[in-house]
Amino acid sequence: MQARRAPCAGSGTAAFHRREGVLWCEDVPIPALARRFGTPLYVYSGAALAERVQAVRGAFPDAVVCYAVKANSNLTLLRRMHALGVGFDLVSGGELRRVQAAGLPTSQAVFAGVGKEPWEIEAAVAAGLLFFNVESEHELPLLAAAGRASGTPVRVALRLNPDVDAGTHAYISTGKKENKFGIALGRAGQVVDAIAREPWLQLCGYHVHLGSQLREAAPYAEAVARVAAFVDGAKQRSAGVTHYDLGGGFGIAYGQGAALDVGAVAAAVLPTLRARGWRPVVEPGRFLVGDAGILLTAVLGEKPQGGSDFLLVDAAMNDLMRPALYQAEHPIVPVVDGNGPERVVDVVGPVCETGDFLGKRRSLPNCARGDLLAVLAAGAYGASMASNYNTRRRPAEVLVDGNTAVLVRARETFEQLLANEVDPDETFVA
Ligand SMILES: Cc1ncc(COP(=O)(O)O)c(C=O)c1O
Repeated sequence: MQARRAPCAGSGTAAFHRREGVLWCEDVPIPALARRFGTPLYVYSGAALAERVQAVRGAFPDAVVCYAVKANSNLTLLRRMHALGVGFDLVSGGELRRVQAAGLPTSQAVFAGVGKEPWEIEAAVAAGLLFFNVESEHELPLLAAAGRASGTPVRVALRLNPDVDAGTHAYISTGKKENKFGIALGRAGQVVDAIAREPWLQLCGYHVHLGSQLREAAPYAEAVARVAAFVDGAKQRSAGVTHYDLGGGFGIAYGQGAALDVGAVAAAVLPTLRARGWRPVVEPGRFLVGDAGILLTAVLGEKPQGGSDFLLVDAAMNDLMRPALYQAEHPIVPVVDGNGPERVVDVVGPVCETGDFLGKRRSLPNCARGDLLAVLAAGAYGASMASNYNTRRRPAEVLVDGNTAVLVRARETFEQLLANEVDPDETFVA
């Protein structure tokens, strides 16, 4: 079906395409979803998810693919990932709880996270993961104690900070020496020694995550070369090592240029891994779900002011935070092609912040109240970053498969928003 159609302009997948001027997701017309479920609404395509998993598998046939749950932690999407043979990359006890709540196994899950609370370490060890990613030395005694309590040594991968510039936005760079993530190579030797001395810990791999939205393969190659050089520095550093986790960060196009060439990343790193007998682990988040989702929003009105034409819509920074947080640019397209001439507008939401915009200086046809716009490539770090700022309810989410759409998250209710604030029953007097 959708494979024969061209992706709609700005989209990275043919799952979102036009038929006679109307945007469709697979075999469902988008206006029908707005009528049935309301707006703002996240719409995901099951076919697009499957295509992306296949693309990663094609490039990394032997890898353990661990979906980065933070990108979109919807339980139905997690179940879909599992059905596609994918494990999980977790960064919090809450994400672990989500996978467990979805009824999914954790044997193909890894657990990173730059600051872990003791209960998170205990829960992760009890869950029996593929391995646990150590990011700081202070985790070691807690991990060892949890291993001793469980009676099984904990399999750990050391997250290294190789000081590689991933060429991405400063807020999503994680592999440079000034970032808080991982352990600097200069210090990592001591941590390997400490792990080797601890009978309840077992070093099984190294982990590097350079950042998000990388467009080039070169940083992955540089990182693996630096890790290999580190490992060659002492015999102990390679003992028992079975995995190299090269992290996520596989970038998508967002309507500009090309997505990361995942095959080029594989070509750059796999020879080193194969030569050492290390199995690759990859942790893509955005690449699997980003293009597979859109945020559907309805026009509230227009407002020319101060030299700009503001197009006010019913989705805001609380629904999709990326433009406000990272100056991220998502393509925004009309759901139904307009007839009139295009003009330049700022697409803004109802939140009381000047930073509340979905797109600036966008060319769009004239819109009337109720017209629908689609913010493309919004499946990753959209719903999972949504908040209740301005006491707004988080949006509903639907998953499309062929000609069916299933509500996978209901729109939040005001009762849910207020539930923790009514009738406080505990008073603390100091
Ligand atoms: C440890 C780790 N792995 C994987 C990812 C996923 O990144 P992306 O969605 O860019 O693939 C992240 C994102 O922050 C991360 O911190």
